[in-house]
Amino acid sequence: MEIIIQPTAAVASGIAARLVARLLREKPSAVLGLATGNTPRMLYQELARRKLEWSKVTTFDLDEYVGLPPEHPGSYYQFMRENLFRHVNVTPANIHVPDGMTKDIPGFCAHYEQAIRAAGGIDLQVLGIGSDGHIGFNEPTSSLSSRTRIKTLTAQTRRDNSKFFECEADVPHHVITMGIGTILEARQIVLLAFGEQKAQAIAQAVEGPISAMCPASVLQLHPDTKVFLDEAASRLLTKVDYYRWVYDNKPDWQKTSGP
Ligand code: PGA
Repeated sequence: MEIIIQPTAAVASGIAARLVARLLREKPSAVLGLATGNTPRMLYQELARRKLEWSKVTTFDLDEYVGLPPEHPGSYYQFMRENLFRHVNVTPANIHVPDGMTKDIPGFCAHYEQAIRAAGGIDLQVLGIGSDGHIGFNEPTSSLSSRTRIKTLTAQTRRDNSKFFECEADVPHHVITMGIGTILEARQIVLLAFGEQKAQAIAQAVEGPISAMCPASVLQLHPDTKVFLDEAASRLLTKVDYYRWVYDNKPDWQKTSGP
C-alpha cells in the first residue's frame, strides 16, 4: 500500500483525479470501478472539470440498495448520475450499477461478475471506507474472498448513511455489493478517506492485522493500492513521517503527480 497524506481532502482528491485522468488518456477504453458516498464527490467533480474523453470508458459501481429503483433519490444510480455521469460523455450502455430491483438476486450477481469479466476486468477501482472498515458494502466479518452478492447492513452503516435519506428508518437493510474477492481483482485500487470519523478504520486497515473484522485491511494483499488521506483521517497512523518521506522523495518515474 502507498499512503498519501495531504493537507485537505480537496488536495488529495486532485492528486487522485490526476491518476484516473492519466489512465483514461493512456487507455481510452479503461474499465473503472466506482464508489458512492460523500468521499469521492470531489474526485468526481475534478474529473468532470477536466473534460476527459469518456465515450469508450466502461464503469461498474460497487453497490446498490435492494428495493430502491434507479430513479429513487437515495439510490446509488441517482448519486452517480448527479455526481458524475451527467457531467461527462460516458456512453449510457457502458454504465453498470447493480440492479436493486432485480427479482433474482443470485442470478443478477452472477451476471454482474460475468459482465466485469467480459469487459476485461477492472483497471482501476475507486473505494471509500466505512467507519466500520467496510469497502463496498462488505461489512465486518464478510468473507475476504466473497463475490458480488446480497449483504445486510450494520446498524452503524445505516446510521452513517442516513444523511442521504430523510430519516434512518428509510435506509434499506439490504444491498447488493461487489465482493471483497471481486474488488481484489482490480488491477489498481485508489482508496480515499477523509475526516476524523475515518481515522480508526484507516489505522486498522493500513497498520492492523488482516482481518474480516476490518474488511479494508485485506487491501494489504493487493499489489497496487494507493490510499489518499487528509490529515484528520491519518491521525491514528503510527508511521506518518515515513509515509510522508516516501511520497516526498520518490524518483521522478514513480510520482503520482503530473498533469
Ligand atoms: P462516505 O461512505 O464516503 O459517505 O463516508 C464511505 C463508505 O461507506 O464506503
